[in-house]
Amino acid sequence: MSNAIYPVSDEVRESALLTPSQYDEMYQASVNDPEAFWAEQGKRIVWSKPFTQVKDVSFQKDDLHIRWFADGELNVTESCLDRHVAATPDKVAIYWEPDTEGGETRTLTYKDLSESVNKFANGLKSLGVKKGDVVTVYLPMVPEMTITMLACARIGAVHSVVFGGFSPEAIAGRIEDGSSEFVVTSNFGWRAGKTVPLKANVDRALELTPADLVKKVIVLNHVDQESAVNADRDVDFHELVNAQSSECAPTIVNAEDPLFILYTSGSTGKPKGVVHTAGGYLVYTSLSHKYVFNYTGEETYWCMADIGWITGHSYAVYGPLTNGATCVMFEGVPNYPDSGRMARLIDKYEINIVYTAPTAIRALMAHGDKPVEGASLKSVKILATAGEPINPEAWRWFYEKFGDSKCPIMDTWWQTETGGMMLTPMPGVTDLKPGSATKPFFGVKPALLDNDGKELEGEASGNLVICDSWPAQSRTIFGDHERFKETYFSSFEGYYFSSDGARRDADGDYWITGRVDDVLNVSGHRMGTAEIESALVAHDSVAEAAVVGVPHDIKGQGIYVYVTLNEGVQSSDEMRTELVKWVRSEIGPIATPDMIQWAPALPKTRSGKIMRRILRKIATDEYENLGDTSTLMDPGVVDELIKGHNDLT
Ligand code: WTA
Repeated sequence: MSNAIYPVSDEVRESALLTPSQYDEMYQASVNDPEAFWAEQGKRIVWSKPFTQVKDVSFQKDDLHIRWFADGELNVTESCLDRHVAATPDKVAIYWEPDTEGGETRTLTYKDLSESVNKFANGLKSLGVKKGDVVTVYLPMVPEMTITMLACARIGAVHSVVFGGFSPEAIAGRIEDGSSEFVVTSNFGWRAGKTVPLKANVDRALELTPADLVKKVIVLNHVDQESAVNADRDVDFHELVNAQSSECAPTIVNAEDPLFILYTSGSTGKPKGVVHTAGGYLVYTSLSHKYVFNYTGEETYWCMADIGWITGHSYAVYGPLTNGATCVMFEGVPNYPDSGRMARLIDKYEINIVYTAPTAIRALMAHGDKPVEGASLKSVKILATAGEPINPEAWRWFYEKFGDSKCPIMDTWWQTETGGMMLTPMPGVTDLKPGSATKPFFGVKPALLDNDGKELEGEASGNLVICDSWPAQSRTIFGDHERFKETYFSSFEGYYFSSDGARRDADGDYWITGRVDDVLNVSGHRMGTAEIESALVAHDSVAEAAVVGVPHDIKGQGIYVYVTLNEGVQSSDEMRTELVKWVRSEIGPIATPDMIQWAPALPKTRSGKIMRRILRKIATDEYENLGDTSTLMDPGVVDELIKGHNDLT
């Protein structure tokens, strides 16, 4: 069954923007002559000074540079707003649906959105925000999130969105790393009927950052509930906006000026600030949004990802708005008040394109037919997923229940660092295989390398690398260009290394096999094992900790933790609860450990390196095949850990 192929149907073919041979032709052109291809595609967006240079790239570590459209000048909001306001001012840009079903909805046309963006841009200016300043954004999924991001872009400021599920500690780290003097937040957010104290989290974060760093906190009054006010620092969002003119001349920036920073986890403890620039990013996200979703301008489109993640940045904000799309934005979760919410919402707004995550599908699938009971879903044309491998069962369930066994599913593989989709099917073009991200997008040249860096031909498994640049590629890690080079360009000289493994089948289709570094994928969220470990050892009672991923039915991967307590500290269920709480408060609920096993000691080599391979196998009950344990400092540890694991499970 896992080899099943779902060929392009006649119905999909008829409405597709591309035929298979057109894709082939365009793809070949894009990799054989990227200059010409991207020079043409660059015209998708509005430039105030057209580019004359297209691609200027070297992946060689000693001469690393990535520049696209480098002499072009623009303001991205002219592509996302002004041109649509001129052509179709009353077209809906955002339908907003609240957490509470039946609660008050909001509809923003392109004209409304543009006015709000201009007003807030003027508001930010009046507070002293200038071109290049980093504005930290910690908001729920409300239109003000989009408004804030575009208002920053309007004045050339750089937004740094922090996912609303992150803790005060995590916010503080990001504010400090970006030397961010301005924060935009909301008093509270809603999630599954409960409020989330966003402003209180920001206040706590500011206690953890240098006292004179943050100058202003702009607070959106979203929930009718009081939050503490700091009169010297806080500014009311609506009061600020109401006082402003709805016209703000766009600040023109260079194509290579930063548009935003977005932090993501890596294999070391500290999250890295991935930097994306204005020109190439916008061209690429707009092009991929068009072809991967077959977006013709008419469809109502719903990207379910939280804007706090890259999927939300690229495909809930920049890509679709550049294309003048009508987007649905939802503050709640797909299974509140019950598992039927997602389907009802699709019917309510007659949504044609749904972009979601495998973890959401698995969570609904656990309810059988319930999630679609009574729903028509006849508006649906295209389904899509991102963020983690989709298991074939979940793929088929989604295809049958939400797609009536006729809407194709686009399984898109990409990363925060890639800015846009890299491997993906396209409607009308690609025969689908559940679990495979299939073929490269335009301009993307993937390859598989063995561990010595040799390119593998034909059917093969190996390290997934990209051979040449594409316009949406991240340019650097904020404040740490060396780390950028080290992380992506030093493992295999001359290639961008994704840190994912992949298999290529006989048809040339790619199957992602998962990360080859110490990064977990929990419900589609990237979590560094080192990040969780350093949070744990920061606790007074913990001597050492090691984190590994284990298969999890809904989350994809669960977090399994081995903890060695300090001498004299008793292991107990209370201590377990305490440590779970601790990790949640240090990083956020997404990092909640699923299992904590007490480890009298961890398996280490004589040089002191923790052998994670062994820990991973114990956590997944694979004792037979532990490999060579003779190099361990104390091989006896392994038996104790196996016993401890069996006692726990
Ligand atoms: C994983 C999310 C399999 C992968 C857009 C990657 C996937 C990491 C897929 C990036 C997919 C993303 N199939 N695995 N379709 N999409 N991944 O930065 O391991 O949050 O390296 O970007 O998610 O996660 P990030």
